[in-house]
Amino acid sequence: MNESATASTAPATARFRQRIFSGIQPSGGLTLGNYLGALKRFVEKQDEGIETVYCLVDLHAITVWQDPEKLRHATREAAAGFIASGIDPARSILFNQSQVAAHAELAWIFNCVARMGWLRRMTQFKDKAGKNAEEASVGLFAYPNLMAADILAYHATHVPVGEDQKQHLELTRDIAIKFNNDFGVDFFPVVEPVIEGAATRVMSLRDGTRKMSKSDPSDMSRINLTDDADAIAQKFRKARTDPEPLPETVEGLDGRPEARNLVNIYAALADRTPAAVIAEFGGKGFGVFKPALADLAVEKLRPISAEMTRLMADVAEIDRILGAGAERADAIARPILADCLDIVGMVRSRPAHG
Ligand code: AMP
Ligand code: TRP
Repeated sequence: MNESATASTAPATARFRQRIFSGIQPSGGLTLGNYLGALKRFVEKQDEGIETVYCLVDLHAITVWQDPEKLRHATREAAAGFIASGIDPARSILFNQSQVAAHAELAWIFNCVARMGWLRRMTQFKDKAGKNAEEASVGLFAYPNLMAADILAYHATHVPVGEDQKQHLELTRDIAIKFNNDFGVDFFPVVEPVIEGAATRVMSLRDGTRKMSKSDPSDMSRINLTDDADAIAQKFRKARTDPEPLPETVEGLDGRPEARNLVNIYAALADRTPAAVIAEFGGKGFGVFKPALADLAVEKLRPISAEMTRLMADVAEIDRILGAGAERADAIARPILADCLDIVGMVRSRPAHG
């Protein structure tokens, strides 16, 4: 829920046309967390008729080791997942990041705008690097600057993401503000995070205090978009819960992270509020609720995985879609990057370089 963000949009982005940008890392398969926290909402924005730019951020993925062939496969499969979920490449721009050079170029400039102290505060770096921070790649540390570049290369005004990305979007705002101040311009918009709905933070099925993640070693902790009906049913059946029946009110979910997570997942899949789900299932045990949830998830996800399989049978077509999307993305980003280079003081005299 983020009504306040929308309300404060006017001053910071007023002169910019509304444009949505978001990205997902193609490292491993897409999860139910990606679907409910991001993809499903990407489709809603597209269907509202807003200009939407969606990116498979392969340059972000390599901040930790990726097997090259697996990365290529995961990028195509994620593209299939976007399309199967309802992203229409004719209406949205869909592409992979590395095909548009402006992202990496602008990221360098932002490496010189952002401060070490700002990046040191990023909790995702601390989580991902863990005790081994000295061994982490420099890219993993600088990653939020690349994310800011992804967004600002399009002068995007709104960024739909899950809860875990909030801190990175605050950094993106800080970079835009500092750049504008340092150079005395009103060039980059101060973007608005769009963190909405019942499932902005889908939790692990094994531990209701941890985020559902494609990098969790336990496959039972997550639903993958490619899981078949049996796997989905089994994972929900075995999902960790407490022994109490579901409460009669939403407040009764306090202190029950696993129960809350399953209710939120049900609500998001059914396009209902958690209160409406509780109104139906309050007082019932998980023996009733889990099979209902599994049926709903299978009903919603099976068409997506079937369509992904169909699309993956024609990889050349997926590559064509990504290439055409990259052309359209480049046409927006390149002139913005050129203006940015002018502002910073670079000589640009190559005739063919826009
Ligand atoms: P990532 O898979 O980390 O590249 O995340 C891509 C998008 O999915 C971001 O907007 C994330 O916030 C969102 N996302 C990833 N995992 C979850 C989750 N467990 N719950 C909600 N949103 C998520
Ligand atoms: N950092 C995001 C994640 O891990 C992915 C991402 C990269 C992104 N660039 C972005 C999201 C730009 C929104 C906008 O989930």
